Amino acid sequence: MFNLFGSKKSRRHYEHIHLDKNNIPKHIAIIMDGNGRWAEERNLPRALGHKAGVETIRKIVKECDRLGVKYLTLYAFSTENWKRPQEEVSALMKLLVEYLKNEFKELNENGVVINHIGDITRLPQNCQDELNKAYENTKNNTGVVLNLALNYGGRDEIIRGIKNIYKKVQKGEINIDSINGSTFSNYLYTANMPDPDIIIRPSGEQRLSNFMLWQCAYSEFWYSDINWPDFNEKDLEKAICDYQQRDRRFGGIKK
Ligand code: IPE
Ligand code: IPE
Ligand code: MG
Repeated sequence: MFNLFGSKKSRRHYEHIHLDKNNIPKHIAIIMDGNGRWAEERNLPRALGHKAGVETIRKIVKECDRLGVKYLTLYAFSTENWKRPQEEVSALMKLLVEYLKNEFKELNENGVVINHIGDITRLPQNCQDELNKAYENTKNNTGVVLNLALNYGGRDEIIRGIKNIYKKVQKGEINIDSINGSTFSNYLYTANMPDPDIIIRPSGEQRLSNFMLWQCAYSEFWYSDINWPDFNEKDLEKAICDYQQRDRRFGGIKK
């Protein structure tokens, strides 16, 4: 039976969400999960779950802009997601191109930088072209930096960083003893960006699935059983509100 009005999980009421405007996370990273289950619960094809998930992306980017979040990273396709059936992979790639084409104008007008992280050279050529074009045309914007993580894997990113650093050492351009955590960070896709303050994962799973393994050393985690297509601005505010109650010590002691 179709249930287009959302499952029980999607009906939730938060009381007293009060955000401290001076403590908005600079970088929010989201593992957008649960599109397939959202569709299956409604007897719809999984691809329609992904399509509904794109609507959530629209809302969340706008909300991040409104709240003054500087970086928003969205995990859209992992290095392991190639294991899925070919039709699902193709549907996801098609949605990506549609999203970039349909949203470009509004995102650009709102000052969003449309960036991508991950090895996009394995994506279909039209996806690569749209991603490169979107980045080239928005890279000088000063609003939210939207990082679309595509064919992204944390392990892959670290290995790539090691290879690139090794080449520089071999050429004598850097001294091996000068490599430390902050120099190594510059060899990752997220070079020059702050680490995520909070990692949000909807859909009930409590794992990283190879996401930002290096960068999340001191990130706060926030999980919810809401599937991504049902996730909305209030959920984001609730996540930020909870984040603001956390005591981030970074290995030190409470002040
Ligand atoms: C997230 O939703 C989107 C991608 C991984 C591309 P899923 O497709 O993983 O949804 P579930 O986990 O099967 O519900
Ligand atoms: C993680 O979700 C990847 C993305 C959201 C893009 P998955 O659905 O692929 O993760 P697992 O398989 O449940 O760990
Ligand atoms: Mg999933």
